[in-house]
Amino acid sequence: MDKVITEDIGAFSQHYPKVAVIVTAQAGGRANAMAAAWHTSISFKPPLYGVAISPKRFTYQLIAESKEFGVNFLPFAKAELIASVGGSKGYEIDKFQMFNIARDKPVKTAVPILKAAYAAYECKLVDDRGYGDHRWLVGEIVAVHLLREALTPEETLDLEKVSPILYLGHELYLTTSKDIRYLDREVYGKH
Ligand SMILES: Cc1cc2nc3c(=O)[nH]c(=O)nc-3n(C[C@H](O)[C@H](O)[C@H](O)COP(=O)(O)O)c2cc1C
Repeated sequence: MDKVITEDIGAFSQHYPKVAVIVTAQAGGRANAMAAAWHTSISFKPPLYGVAISPKRFTYQLIAESKEFGVNFLPFAKAELIASVGGSKGYEIDKFQMFNIARDKPVKTAVPILKAAYAAYECKLVDDRGYGDHRWLVGEIVAVHLLREALTPEETLDLEKVSPILYLGHELYLTTSKDIRYLDREVYGKH
């Protein structure tokens, strides 16, 4: 089949699906939560995590002020909460109240940690740079909140226990299949 090659990039979305998370922040007595799909690990030592956030987001204002943010990973049953916090503005409403979002206590920062998260990172901001229309925020992970049962003994996500939320773009959500293959890089790297 022929491929189309185009320089008319548009709102490129071929890199989806991506895990959708909820980024949290607080400052000056206000707490907020937003959906984010543009995020990644950057370094093991020190443990660094990056997220691309538009400066238009209320969440960005709170992070710029407090120099802290939280990254919350939720089970697929909470996909609607992603759409709720991704479809509302902290400038206009208190999302924690409006969507009845329960919290756990943070230990190293003051960022809101979501009770429903099977994992959450507390991050201290170490860099904030503009790239195009988004800011690239790099945080050092200073505490990890983990639901033990969500992980296998090898510390990978146990898909029998928890299904991550994947975002496909265009308001479409899905989760992973349980079709897992073990492909040892040491073995495969030799062929
Ligand atoms: C699934 C999903 C993923 C999103 N990913 C991002 C993202 O990575 N970066 C971003 O700046 N906005 C992202 N958004 C948009 C924000 O979540 C949205 O604009 C939200 O209303 C911002 O809230 P705030 O103004 O209260 O911070 C995403 C929205 C959805 C629904």
